[in-house]
Amino acid sequence: MSNETTRAFNHLAPPHLEDPYPLFEELRREAPVVFNPSFGMWFVSRHEDVAAVVKDPVRFSSAQVLAPLQEPSPELLAILGNDRSGVYPLLSSDPPVHTRVRGLVIKAFAGPRLAARMEPFIRAITSELVDGFEKDGHAELMSRFAMPLPIRVTSQLFGIPLSEMELVKRWCDDETMLLMGLLPEEQRAELARSIVAYRDFLRALVEDHRANPRPDLVTELIEARAEGESPLDTQELVGTLCVLIFAAHLTTTNMIGNALVSILRAPGAWQTLRDRPEVIPGVLEEAMRFDAPVQGMTRTVGEDCRIRGVAVPRGARVFVLFGSANRDLPGVKDPERFDIERAAGPNLAFGRGPHFCVGAQLARIEGSIALDELTRRLRGARLAGDAPLSYVPNLVHRGPTALNVAWDVPTS
Ligand code: HEM
Repeated sequence: MSNETTRAFNHLAPPHLEDPYPLFEELRREAPVVFNPSFGMWFVSRHEDVAAVVKDPVRFSSAQVLAPLQEPSPELLAILGNDRSGVYPLLSSDPPVHTRVRGLVIKAFAGPRLAARMEPFIRAITSELVDGFEKDGHAELMSRFAMPLPIRVTSQLFGIPLSEMELVKRWCDDETMLLMGLLPEEQRAELARSIVAYRDFLRALVEDHRANPRPDLVTELIEARAEGESPLDTQELVGTLCVLIFAAHLTTTNMIGNALVSILRAPGAWQTLRDRPEVIPGVLEEAMRFDAPVQGMTRTVGEDCRIRGVAVPRGARVFVLFGSANRDLPGVKDPERFDIERAAGPNLAFGRGPHFCVGAQLARIEGSIALDELTRRLRGARLAGDAPLSYVPNLVHRGPTALNVAWDVPTS
């Protein structure tokens, strides 16, 4: 086996963008822990190593997960004021701050009002979206289904009027640009003003929920209590909401998109899901294993260390490839094949360890209802056209930009 510890590659460019998995297989074999100068980061691709890194927040910190690529200038900090981005008590934090906030968020998600309300609501929205195109015999399912479904669920979950979700989505996009983009100062100032407006909006949302509690996640977060812990204050609520809202929509859109691609490409699979809807939750897990919507995340190395014997210095950034680790799970035979009959074991699509996705259950409910509704109502669905699918070049998120699907419509 090669001991290669530096390799320049860009899996976000053709030919890897559409299918990065052959490259990941090569990395696992030849360079499982490797510094990639194209991204200035170490890439870890084997399941055993990815799992070990994410379970060890002391050596591999999450505090920089949402750190901006460009250091904010004094002018930018002046615009951001108290709203400066970078305060994310979930996702981008380590114990003990993370442990307290996460404990309260988990309690909020377990709130009885929430669970009771969301499932019938998701079913109703899913059905309404399918009503919109069922009789047409074809549709572009990303824009008509996979994108609007999580937006509608997010609106309901956080008590945000649907009419304001477009604005919220734009603010989320602006925040991502400010964090992940390399931009001129003028444009960054504009984005910073957008973030201040978003924080004002979220503060008003929290205050409104304090005054008028209602059966949604914001009220559950405000009311969440744990013994010996102080409740979330307004600033923590705003930072937590930012991460929750941001984490709830693109991920779920891509989960639905990727699952549809895998199912539609597998001969007979659509019909099997129609005939035996009880297999849907397992097929969804297999689809997430096979083509993970969140391909990976970063960690920052807290002390000089070795991963699989390779020295990785303190301060280095490590990118753990969940998408690759899922093709390397222990005991999974023929991992490069999408197999709807596979008994789904645990995989890394929702991460593992202290930052395991808090929305996993909600996402699974959304995904299962979506697949059930689509396979039941769109008879004989198939991918339309021969053009290869296109993907946004994003290090973290993976999903098709468009998905043209056709199906049979009864003539009577
Ligand atoms: C299919 C959809 C989803 C996928 C694939 C997904 C994936 C992930 C992954 C891989 C992580 C771990 C990140 C890390 O280790 O650094 C994570 C964390 C997280 N996810 Fe999800 N997610 C999904 C849906 C959701 C939804 C619907 C919500 C909220 C309603 C959500 C909220 C979060 C939050 C808040 C965290 C951070 C948890 C923490 O730091 O303790 N996710 N997600």
